[in-house]
Amino acid sequence: MDPSLVKIPPMKDLTADNITENVITINSLCEDARMKYVLERLVTHLHDFARETRLSSDEWMTGLRFLTEVGQICTDVRQEFILLSDVLGLSLLVDSIDHPKPPGSTEGTVLGPFHTHDAEEMPSGESMSHDPKGEPLLVVCTLRDTEGKPIEGVKIDIWETDSSGHYDVQYAGREEPDGRCVMRSDKEGLFWFRAITPVPYPIPHDGPVGRLLKKLHRHPYRPSHMHFMFEKEGYDHLITALYLRNDPYETSDAVFGVKDSLTVDIGKVGPELSKKYGVPEGQALLTYDFVLVSDAETSELRAHNSKVALDKLGRKVKIVNGLPIPDLD
Ligand code: BEZ
Ligand code: FE
Repeated sequence: MDPSLVKIPPMKDLTADNITENVITINSLCEDARMKYVLERLVTHLHDFARETRLSSDEWMTGLRFLTEVGQICTDVRQEFILLSDVLGLSLLVDSIDHPKPPGSTEGTVLGPFHTHDAEEMPSGESMSHDPKGEPLLVVCTLRDTEGKPIEGVKIDIWETDSSGHYDVQYAGREEPDGRCVMRSDKEGLFWFRAITPVPYPIPHDGPVGRLLKKLHRHPYRPSHMHFMFEKEGYDHLITALYLRNDPYETSDAVFGVKDSLTVDIGKVGPELSKKYGVPEGQALLTYDFVLVSDAETSELRAHNSKVALDKLGRKVKIVNGLPIPDLD
């Protein structure tokens, strides 16, 4: 509907029973159909939340103070809002809605706040970690599409903590990137590198999100993992990680990122791989075959999932670019 035709009722004498519809009406002057839909649903759920919990003014002020503190602690290298979204399970939920995966493809997981854009590009075979205390690890991976064809030239960002469980950006005197690199897959879809065996670590918990976890009697730990991000035109951007099996936090990740399909056993380099990759026999070994999904497959699946989800909710919407907007026709 043309927003100029929206009839705005007099905004007076609003009550708990009619404020929601009035706020939605005035917001519907917005010309962007998707934004209008998101705001309509946001206001509806926020208002219902307040009505249902009988939210007190003191509680709402506590919430606002908490959000203020979350903002105040953010810097270029500290993203407390991402942490908050992560510990509330929202990051994982949004990733699974926006990046649906057909069976057999590599699942996504939480990005977290520690990816940077300054990692150096590195050819296969080099070391992305310079921590002498870390346990040396050979990582050998392949990258294919859903038909099993190798994908060449994919930009792969990889990052992990040092052996004490800290990312480079958590050190005040960081001069250059460490524990992170960018690689490209070769003609066979292969990329391999040296790293250190990941260790469990706590997410930053000296700020408001840490205080929230404490109040909820939740621990701040993530199980041992290594992050991967894959980018190539024509393929859905994949943000994922590999988790070590039998980690003490495998089933209680503070940010809900662990999936069985992303959980790996660390093996040992045998004589053949030792010769091929020039690393000592017996060294720790991680191997994984990643499968990327095309943009076209992802768009189709996203639109299908949106339709199924919204039908289930009985909502009258149109699906445009895979996303629901109000169906006003
Ligand atoms: C991480 O794995 O780097 C991470 C994810 C979520 C919150 C904090 C850290
Ligand atoms: Fe991490």
